[in-house]
Amino acid sequence: MPLIKLALPKTGKLLYLIFIATFFSLQGFAQQARQKLDFDKGWRFNLGDAGNAQNPALNEAGWRTLNLPHDWSVEGKFSKDNPATAEGGALPGGIGWYRKTFTIPADSKNKLVYIDFDGVYQKSDVWINGHHLGFRPNGYISFRYELTPYLNFGGKNVIAVKVDNSVQPNSRWYSGSGIYRNVWLVTTNKIAIDHWGTYVTTSDIDETSAKVNLKISVKNKAGSNEPLVLKASIYDAAGKVVSAVSTSATNTNLQDTLFETSFKFTLKSPQLWSVERPYLYKVVTQIINGRNVIDEYTTPLGIRYFNFDADKGFSLNGKSMKILGVCNHHDLGSLGAAINTRALERQLQILKAMGCNGIRTSHNPPAPELLDLCDKMGFIVMDEAFDCWDWKKAKYDYHLFFKEWHKRDLEDQILRDRNHPSVMIWSIGNEIPQQGDTSTLRIAPELAAIVHNLDNTRPITTANNRPDSTNKIIKSGAIDLVGYNYHEFDYAKFHDRYPGKKFIATETTSGLETRGYYDMPSDSIRIWPERWDKPFTRPGNNVSAYDNVRPPWGSTHEATWKVMKKYDFLSGMFVWTGFDYLGEPTPYSWPSRSSYFGIVDLAGFPKDVYYMYQSEWTDKPVLHIFPHWNWQAGKTVDVWAYYNNADEVELFLNDKSLGTKKKTGDDLHIMWRVKFEPGTLKAISRKDGKVVLTREIHTAGPAAKIVLVADRNLINADGKDLSFITVKIMDKDGNILPDANNLVNFKINGEAFIASVDNGDPVSHDSFKVNYRKAFHGLALAIVQAKDKAGNIKFTATSKGLQSASMVIKSK
Ligand code: GAL
Repeated sequence: MPLIKLALPKTGKLLYLIFIATFFSLQGFAQQARQKLDFDKGWRFNLGDAGNAQNPALNEAGWRTLNLPHDWSVEGKFSKDNPATAEGGALPGGIGWYRKTFTIPADSKNKLVYIDFDGVYQKSDVWINGHHLGFRPNGYISFRYELTPYLNFGGKNVIAVKVDNSVQPNSRWYSGSGIYRNVWLVTTNKIAIDHWGTYVTTSDIDETSAKVNLKISVKNKAGSNEPLVLKASIYDAAGKVVSAVSTSATNTNLQDTLFETSFKFTLKSPQLWSVERPYLYKVVTQIINGRNVIDEYTTPLGIRYFNFDADKGFSLNGKSMKILGVCNHHDLGSLGAAINTRALERQLQILKAMGCNGIRTSHNPPAPELLDLCDKMGFIVMDEAFDCWDWKKAKYDYHLFFKEWHKRDLEDQILRDRNHPSVMIWSIGNEIPQQGDTSTLRIAPELAAIVHNLDNTRPITTANNRPDSTNKIIKSGAIDLVGYNYHEFDYAKFHDRYPGKKFIATETTSGLETRGYYDMPSDSIRIWPERWDKPFTRPGNNVSAYDNVRPPWGSTHEATWKVMKKYDFLSGMFVWTGFDYLGEPTPYSWPSRSSYFGIVDLAGFPKDVYYMYQSEWTDKPVLHIFPHWNWQAGKTVDVWAYYNNADEVELFLNDKSLGTKKKTGDDLHIMWRVKFEPGTLKAISRKDGKVVLTREIHTAGPAAKIVLVADRNLINADGKDLSFITVKIMDKDGNILPDANNLVNFKINGEAFIASVDNGDPVSHDSFKVNYRKAFHGLALAIVQAKDKAGNIKFTATSKGLQSASMVIKSK
């Protein structure tokens, strides 16, 4: 039996604590502790109001069977008549009902049973066996209900959920509708760690040691007075216990009381969490009764310290750096709002490869899986609560519920998220309409107090689009970081306006691009709208991808980054946005239905400006030239290059040099103005005369074939994992056809299905939930989802007049 070594706290400050060595292994009893079951499978769904569908005896004939997470809006048809409008993604809302019938074993009678919803959009009512458990209007908040008193132990139970997203517009972006995040069934003993019942913080961190503080809240519903031991162990990333502390628990004898205690650990030679090396420990807290582990609860732990300095900006673990972040909305493109961990992970991988190290969860609490991934992958998170307080932005948005619900919602968000090492900023609001109104002098401090009461280890900000002297949020003194949305050209004067204050660019840029579409000439900045009385018009509702179109309140990517990199006190930025999202199709409206703001398009294909960031934000060698090389003979084409790690770039057209160029001053790209002739455009970057990288673009011939590239050829047979298959339309020599829009049909056989399809076109009204897609600028995407059974998956793509392609993926 292993001997667990205890790291005893240095002083005897702690109340209630008796430290005892644990000489026996408790692993064998762990099965008696809590159970957290994935409760996503086998729900019935009815679109439309089904009356009193909470009645357990309801006949479910005609109800669909499905697995959660589920977003019914994304299954609907795009229409300008949907009340969400193009701003909200032009998809239908409505009312939907979900029901799930399940059994609870008779021997669970002495247990407590809870249902946890990670997020339901929106206005959900939940019943168990006909008993109403509660109502939550906020579509992004996680919540729990206790089922115990209403359950038939040993028999059948029916949970019913009514979701009401019928009154619209209630959002300025696509919300999705339904139980779009995961659901869990949690069973504990009657004495158990409370919901979100641990709080881990760190202090006094250096290379030799770190202090870890753990607060634990235990609920006693047993009404018994048994002697208990509380024990917490810190595991390193390899799964080794590096420190453990225990105490006998007193005060547990009262029915329904919350027993709170705290532990202090000192860790020797701690491995620090950073964006480059996000080292994670975990804390396992146990409640032990005699020889039984009656509860076991895991809390993530990352040891890091950070600071926002008014003059020097942001530092992590003592090292100065900038937060190089993006804002993202919660949808996953063609998958809609339905959360999928792999789809989120892919987004983060694409952003990480760009050099991005920060995520703003605009403008709401995220799915918990996003924070798990940010902990694991090394992103700094600005975790945002609200897009409005009690003044409206959309007619029926959260302002209707703010008064009654803000305290509960904000508390729940902080309690849920405060253990994530990735979370380093709390935002209590985005572009709050009453920034200039005196009501904020009351509301901002109230919200800040709610946050700091539960977590005072992170600064609070608001994202202000009017960060001037009229701003009463800033004036209220409630916020720790002054957040600027836009106003890039005022940054330099920040300390004149706010002496001694700390700065964060909560939102920047809002550059507009369509992947693969280019207007000449490229070197004049176009502001949308060029005239307020005229709509922005380009063929096909496209926007040029040269990073030269911006809205009046925003800036181009390059212009913003040039300012940002100039001053140390600018601690970081969150670009609007990392990925395109459904809704808000600025500068257009219907028939466009998704955004143009992304550095990456809705399907996950990078736009050119992605490589500007990569050349600036990473050390890896970059040479990216664009546009494509299929133009009319004689046309003047602007050839841009983003590059780094080199002194110069030489461009050749059909082996003839067009000259060598280098960035001067604060340039972020170089450009050649070239008379088009078909053939090969070649760029060579050189450092000290030595070739660093070579890139070639060829004029593509006629479309000849389909080429498929899967991001992963082996996926998990867990019913959830995904393979993202990129579909390329190519000529016979393997060059992408830059304007191809061929219709491609997909077929799938084996242990997977097509979850959705896309091509990144903000104007397409084809459903995402079909097995065909037109290419858009030469590319399309099919997202293949594993079933529960392992096996081979054969995926085939065909298109009239093209050589078809097929591939085999495996699931295991
Ligand atoms: C900001 C706002 C974002 C988005 C963006 C578009 O003002 O905070 O939610 O609307 O504009 O440029």
